[in-house]
Amino acid sequence: MAGTMRDDILKVIVSEEEIRERIEALGKQIAEDYAGKNPMFVGVLKGCYVFMSDLVRCTDIPCTMDFVVASSYGDGTSTSGEVKILKDISQNIEGRHVILVDDIFDTGVTLNYLTQYFMPRKPASIRIAALLDKPARRTVDLAADYVGFNVPDEFVVGYGLDYAEAYRNLPYIGVLKPEVYSK
Ligand code: IMP
Ligand code: MG
Repeated sequence: MAGTMRDDILKVIVSEEEIRERIEALGKQIAEDYAGKNPMFVGVLKGCYVFMSDLVRCTDIPCTMDFVVASSYGDGTSTSGEVKILKDISQNIEGRHVILVDDIFDTGVTLNYLTQYFMPRKPASIRIAALLDKPARRTVDLAADYVGFNVPDEFVVGYGLDYAEAYRNLPYIGVLKPEVYSK
């Protein structure tokens, strides 16, 4: 039998249960903070999709959703430093309370770029929600408003985060075995 995806994982950093509990708490917090405000969640594809799908179902207030496709990473594990918008959102955000949702707030370049990109459209506010935060790698003067977990400066996969487009469907956050990178 061919190996499973889990065979490639060296260690689990955040378990499924920890993720579930934390996202429930984040959703409750967002529902409180945005009561009566009809926020718009704007997910940054592809990394956001597992986290966002859980987060919005834990946020019990009227809201809308949209997606932007942004890319800053190549196939490897280091950033290219450049952000490209491959697909823009389709709704008007003027006067709306926008919550940008991403898998990880790493250098911060992507979410910083997107914040600047959306500002001229005059949203009522823009905040950032990220499942993971890697503060050690920050290169921009910006903080995430809603964070699931702080993680050490290690390359992680799962729950939407990929290595060369694989492992997004892993139901927890893990670190890959070193030999995976030399395959
Ligand atoms: P930024 O450096 O904050 O702009 O992060 C850009 C993107 O890099 C994130 O949305 C992720 O898709 C990807 N990324 C950053 N760190 C990791 C990691 O540890 N594993 C997988 N993807 C990552
Ligand atoms: Mg991403």
